[in-house]
Amino acid sequence: MQPSSAAKQSTFAEDVHKGLSSDPKSLSSKYFYDDEGSRLFQQIMDLPEYYLTRAEFEIFSTQAPQIFAAFTEQNSSFDLIELGAGDGTKTAVLVDYFLKKQADFVYSPVDISGEAIDVLTGKFAAQFPDLQISAKTGDYFRILDRLKTESQRQKILLFLGSNIGNFSRREALDFFTQLRAAMNENDLLFVGFDLQKDPRVILKAYDDAQNVTAAFNLNLLKRINRELGADFNVENFSHYAIYQPNEGAARSFLISRENQTVQIGALNQSFAFKQWEAIFMEISQKYDLPMIADLAASSGFQVAQNFFDGNRYFVDSLWKTR
Ligand code: AVI
Repeated sequence: MQPSSAAKQSTFAEDVHKGLSSDPKSLSSKYFYDDEGSRLFQQIMDLPEYYLTRAEFEIFSTQAPQIFAAFTEQNSSFDLIELGAGDGTKTAVLVDYFLKKQADFVYSPVDISGEAIDVLTGKFAAQFPDLQISAKTGDYFRILDRLKTESQRQKILLFLGSNIGNFSRREALDFFTQLRAAMNENDLLFVGFDLQKDPRVILKAYDDAQNVTAAFNLNLLKRINRELGADFNVENFSHYAIYQPNEGAARSFLISRENQTVQIGALNQSFAFKQWEAIFMEISQKYDLPMIADLAASSGFQVAQNFFDGNRYFVDSLWKTR
């Protein structure tokens, strides 16, 4: 069952309250994706500096036969379950190839947003009339727990697009450990990781010349204005991105350009910002291969095969259970 919109709203309000009451202040990047945020993210994916989406698209376009062979090594029929499916552009490349090979599979996009799932399902149904689709809306783990006992077919879970990068390393470990618990022994997990590379290439991806990433971050303040009755003046904040090569972590902040106080109606509270105070907005963790192998092993998996783009900017890593 989906949480009611009032319950969702209170979680948003509570998280904003917690983040802005902390020292240092933070806001959760999971709230970036309202309608406007999703539109801005689409624009980010088309930016010349944002190499991630193109790199993963290249992997799928050039290596679909090898990916298909790896997926069907044990079983010829499977459920393809995509966690946080997004707009499906990249997945469509794999689905298209699998259908051409007459593979026996059901595609299950899973997302917390029913709207995103409806759009994707409509698009795929029109594009692939022969595709069996079983879309699911709700919490990933609750859905997977149900599927674990409901269906004995092999499951191949997709978690693409470097979504894992927006988790801290601790959160990533917890996430994969929970996924493992919801999987059966022969199931597979296919994860997209952005790799460590020239720090300048990474930094530009999060600090683009057209300032779309800045707008994407600032949109969260506008969302708080819209949904929680706040009075952020977004002109008084600027986007600042860093990349720390020793940690492999890109981080973005909104910097208060002056001493100011913001009132949030839904919280009945005001928050003071000092000049140059930073709000931490998002981590985009970059990995290397030992970190990936370590993360797999620590959460009950082992790396079966890695698929790289030509620049070795990105890897889709296929994990089996241990
Ligand atoms: C969704 N996620 C993988 C993106 C990333 O690269 O961390 C979100 C993003 N933030 C700024 N640009 C893109």
